[in-house]
Amino acid sequence: MKWWKEGIIYQIYPRSFFDSSGNGIGDLNGISKKLHYIKSLGVDMVWICPFYKSPNKDNGYDISDYKDISKIFGDLNSFDILLKKMHSLGLKLIMDLVVNHTSDKHSWFKKARKSKESKFHDYYIWKEGEKGKKPNNWKSVFSGSAWKWNEQTKEYFLHLYTENQPDLNWENPIVRKEVYSIIDFWLSKGVDGIRMDVISLISKRLDFKNIPNNIIFIDVMEKYYANGPRVHEYIKEMNKKVLSKYDIVTIGEGPGINLNNGLNYVNEDENELNMIFHFDHLTIDFGKEGKYDPIPFDFIKFKKIFSNWDKLFSKRGWNSIFLGNHDFSRIVSRFGNDNEFHEESSKLLATLLMTLRGTPSLYQGDEIGMTNINYNNISFYDDVETINAWKEAIDNKKNMKKFFEAIQKQSRDNARTPMQWDNKKNAGFSKVEPWIKANDNYKKINVKNQEKDLDSILNYYKLLIKIRKENSTLVYGKYEDLDPMHTKIFSYKRWDKNDVFIIHLNFSNCLVEINSSEIKDYKLVISNYTFAKKRNNLNPWEARIYKLIK
Ligand code: NOJ
Repeated sequence: MKWWKEGIIYQIYPRSFFDSSGNGIGDLNGISKKLHYIKSLGVDMVWICPFYKSPNKDNGYDISDYKDISKIFGDLNSFDILLKKMHSLGLKLIMDLVVNHTSDKHSWFKKARKSKESKFHDYYIWKEGEKGKKPNNWKSVFSGSAWKWNEQTKEYFLHLYTENQPDLNWENPIVRKEVYSIIDFWLSKGVDGIRMDVISLISKRLDFKNIPNNIIFIDVMEKYYANGPRVHEYIKEMNKKVLSKYDIVTIGEGPGINLNNGLNYVNEDENELNMIFHFDHLTIDFGKEGKYDPIPFDFIKFKKIFSNWDKLFSKRGWNSIFLGNHDFSRIVSRFGNDNEFHEESSKLLATLLMTLRGTPSLYQGDEIGMTNINYNNISFYDDVETINAWKEAIDNKKNMKKFFEAIQKQSRDNARTPMQWDNKKNAGFSKVEPWIKANDNYKKINVKNQEKDLDSILNYYKLLIKIRKENSTLVYGKYEDLDPMHTKIFSYKRWDKNDVFIIHLNFSNCLVEINSSEIKDYKLVISNYTFAKKRNNLNPWEARIYKLIK
């Protein structure tokens, strides 16, 4: 039994959480001011996306100084205050570690790019390329080539993300030592855990083979960029040299991690990571070219993904459960119905999140059912990934109307609009114009309204969290999908020697029949409809948790 198995993570995107300084950008003091709110949810751990010094080309995922804080967010003092306050409230802090790449403004890279003689040169990945041609056909995840020419040394450097995020060379033991010293710096301050950005990418395949044309994006990730030959050696080393010295939680973000290789990262016998964030369910509607090339959502497949991952970790390892984060659209807009069943489907997704086996992560704003933004013009979008994809689509003469619709659905900005605190200007997030436009529906969907309303999505989350905390069966109990082929309902059982639960979730806009004989000895624990209808019917987007009467 471990605290991080029983706890619940709340994820904060600091830019968009709460602006205390009046610059239109959320900050660390802003988080400090809202800690009582976070505590009131009943969560235990808070993962905060990067707030280190950064030119913010990718909103903090491009770090120029790992041991300092970006001025827009505060300083080391505001960090210390935040950590102290969190600990006094019994909240644990999980920091984001971004060490697959640095910013190109990091002093290492500035020196590295000047001369091949610099000791920092070998901190990064360089290739000469033949006859002025790029070293290979690898594409950046954020569009365009993954190679950028550096005139001073007459070589290309590798960047799997923007050209301002050069990839570190983990083959170099000095780089690894630097990384461990960064980790130690923060853990020795009392930080309780680390979410490791794209950790599956740190070991490169040194033959840098070209990628065949017909291969789909998800396979490129798995077979070319992620899971390189030394990745486990590096993570084990990191664990031995620094992680194992602290009682912390580690979660590796894992593009390219799937059912075939997932256990290798979290197998308890191997001393690597505690959990991973895999993306099988969140890439479910990605087509051949990725997220802006959508394919229809397949509900049966969606359910199967949860069952398969549960099975994978049933004997060893531990799952992490999340339905969205700062890189995906809003969960109610994506998997629910953010229109006529906004409240019901938000609560249904909450029920799913809090009743599966694994540690749940709740992303800021989902607890009040924040929705996609649907800007009507590309000029409102901010995210580098969205903008680059848009430009590339123009160059490739794509159908731009269709492409824009895909952006509205899938842009990461959907999840990055300001947290909706109340119905005052700018959603109560900031006194000035925020860095990104707030969603107009803040007048209705906001924390203040929902705190007052006992039936709100927010209060439903609080209740569910309490139920999960009071029932260890919902944490550790076995899981079984009761009707995997049902096209509308997700029904599953959670059980152990103490208790049995049955969860029914109607993922549709219609009334659906269920088999009531199965639940005749059960009592209803919670439902998202005040008057749960006849037991053999589920209302649109109805969620019910039943517990066996003993
Ligand atoms: C994953 C992060 O979650 C995302 O926001 C970022 O852009 C990439 N990694 C690159 O660091």
